[in-house]
Parts: sequence; C-alpha cells; structure tokens
Amino acid sequence: KEKTLGMIKPDGVEKLGQILDEIYKRGFLLTRLRMCCLDRNQAFRFYEEHRDKPFFNALIDYITSGPIIVFEIVNTNAVDNWREAIGPTDPSRARTVAPTSIRAQYGIDVTRNVVHGSDSAASAVRELEFFFPSSGPMLPNTSKGGNCTCCLIKPHAV
Ligand code: GTP
Ligand code: MG
Repeated sequence: KEKTLGMIKPDGVEKLGQILDEIYKRGFLLTRLRMCCLDRNQAFRFYEEHRDKPFFNALIDYITSGPIIVFEIVNTNAVDNWREAIGPTDPSRARTVAPTSIRAQYGIDVTRNVVHGSDSAASAVRELEFFFPSSGPMLPNTSKGGNCTCCLIKPHAV
C-alpha cells in the first residue's frame, strides 16, 4: 500500500458532497483529513516548484481564496490511482480525454480545477509532511485568525 496527499481546493469545497461521493465511489481509503486556510507564505511553500511559472500569482490567489480540505489516501498505487481519478490539470482537456474524471466533471478552468494530487511518491512524502507534520504544531495559520480545524481519522492505523 502507498500513501498520497489529496486536496479539495476552494472551488471544490463548494461542491463538497459531490467530490466526496466521487472519492467514495472509487473506494479510496482516507486515513487523515484536515480543513484549513492557507496563508500566502504557506501557499508559496506548498507550490514553490511553480515559483517561476507565469500562472504562479493566479495559483496563489486561488489557493488562498478560501478553505481547503486535505487528506491522506492509502491505496495500492495511491499516487497514480488518485492522479488518474482527478484527471488532467486543465478541466477542458479532461472533458475530452478523461470525461469521467473529477476535474472533467467539476473543474471550471485550468486554475479552478477542484482537486490536487501529489505527482510522485517523493512529492507525496513532502506534501503529507507539510499538512500532517510528524512533529511540532500542525501548520498554524497566521493570516486568517488561526482558524484551522484538525480531525485525525484512525491516526495510527496504517
Ligand atoms: P496539482 O495537483 O494542483 O499540483 O495539479 P497538476 O499536478 O495537475 O498541475 P501542476 O502541478 O503542473 O500545476 C499546479 C496547479 O497550477 C494546477 O493544478 C493549476 O491550478 C495551476 N496551473 C497549472 N498549469 C497552469 C496553466 O497553464 N495555467 C494556469 N492558469 N494555471 C495552471
Ligand atoms: Mg502538481
């Protein structure tokens, strides 16, 4: 079994029931989950590999625009299976090549593409540690009143 980080982005949170149903239908096991708001510094750190891309500012504005939900998925081939479930980055492309994917069904545009998935096993380790640190406080939010909520599901079951 492998682990990956999944995220429901701000536009996805507005369609939470449908997105959760898509996750449930595919049988993914969620083992840890949090809802939180990223401040800009946290968003920079999470997406730092994209720092020099032309869409970086739009990405940071979007991902900090509202609450997100992050979760740990445990599955065989979790990284690839979750990436396949979410579909290509651009929802309009997803509607052509992967019409049953989550982005195809619920994505609005290439920025507002409802969900995230780690792109490799190494990214998954980094991103899970980012949101579920093995030591220290859990990602305190500094800009929006510290309004993170945290809910551990079966924290030591895997
Ligand atoms: P994530 O799972 O969110 O990491 O998406 P991804 O791995 O499919 O794409 P990538 O890591 O390359 O890009 C991260 C995010 O930046 C995407 O999910 C989009 O929200 C945004 N993004 C990527 N490419 C573009 C682009 O060409 N234009 C715009 N406006 N946004 C982009
Ligand atoms: Mg990515």
